[in-house]
Amino acid sequence: MNKLLAPMSGSRNVEYADFVRSFEKEHNRQILKLQTGDPDFSTPQVIQDSLSRSLSKGKTHYTNSQGAPELREAIVNKLKKENKIESIVEEVIVTNGGIQGVSLAVNAIINPGDKALIFEPYWMPYHSILTVAGAEISKVSIDLENYDEQKILNDFYDTYSDDVRIVIINSPSNPTGIVFSENFITSILKRISSQTFLLSDEVYERIIYDEIKHISTASLGIKTKQIISVFSFSKTFAMTGFRVGYVHADNKIISEMLKLFQFSSTCIAPFIQDACLTALTDEGIDFEINRMVKKYDERRQMLKKIKSATMPAGAFYCFIKIPDKLAREDFPFWMVRENGISVSPGDAFGNYSGYFRISFAVSDDVWSRSVDFLSKILNS
Ligand SMILES: Cc1ncc(COP(=O)(O)O)c(C=O)c1O
Repeated sequence: MNKLLAPMSGSRNVEYADFVRSFEKEHNRQILKLQTGDPDFSTPQVIQDSLSRSLSKGKTHYTNSQGAPELREAIVNKLKKENKIESIVEEVIVTNGGIQGVSLAVNAIINPGDKALIFEPYWMPYHSILTVAGAEISKVSIDLENYDEQKILNDFYDTYSDDVRIVIINSPSNPTGIVFSENFITSILKRISSQTFLLSDEVYERIIYDEIKHISTASLGIKTKQIISVFSFSKTFAMTGFRVGYVHADNKIISEMLKLFQFSSTCIAPFIQDACLTALTDEGIDFEINRMVKKYDERRQMLKKIKSATMPAGAFYCFIKIPDKLAREDFPFWMVRENGISVSPGDAFGNYSGYFRISFAVSDDVWSRSVDFLSKILNS
């Protein structure tokens, strides 16, 4: 077996979801499921129609590995218009979701023993992917009770060294919904050495509230060639099951990623890529995105009923501290058994077992019942 896989455990979230499913079956009881990060909205009809049209035209064969040229062209236009990133098609690769984008990028640049730095709490796959690549991982833990960007930056300066090969940032963040300021991102960019790549995971770019503007790391004009930007169709367009993301980076990195991609996935299904092209070019799509974000925002406002909840600035999660009186090791499991609500365990995001994550990418009905329950359980 690959020795690098040994320290990696299976996904805590998947393990927990299995528990929830078997609990429901065993007790014949419907659980209010708040643990998944999958939009409850249907994929917009124009995108679905585009996929069907493409299938009926017979676009069911191998296609360009790096991504269909017309789709990459549309991505280049989107990057320019929405992200203020100047690019060319050679600097873009279309991947099996943002997750594969992260994985290909890490494996394209990391040699075993290389140093990596991530902020904690983190989206678990960063840790797992870096572990399998043999990276030595340092973490900068965020004190969520006393959130202070300058303190996070100071901790970053203390932990970072010039030989770190990759730093990963994620804004808006899963699981906290934190959106880093331009000053924060700029400060990190200014500090990193010429040996460091900065992977900027921006898959929640469009799910952002209170008129905060998403700032793409690669738009800041600092060390641009060292930045790897990861995007996805999953969250913005409610297209998680399509499994498509894309990465923008210097073409030297993209061509190494492409080698890895070709020997594992060959290409993304052409009819899926056609649907993605529609998602990026259809004139009515912004209306659909805004409609979904407005709904997320309405649900976000309901978090005010839960005293210990911090309002997320982006994404559709809230990371909540377990009140002392309810502190117990099996909290997420207890929530299912005793209260009929499933939440993501905090330790699925690093050393945060005193927290849990809820997602409001669920139906209005499930959300309003959950908020009522949660406020009763947590506020009392
Ligand atoms: C922070 C973050 N990055 C990347 C992804 C990858 O999403 P996908 O592979 O569906 O594009 C997710 C999905 O939950 C995520 O939360």
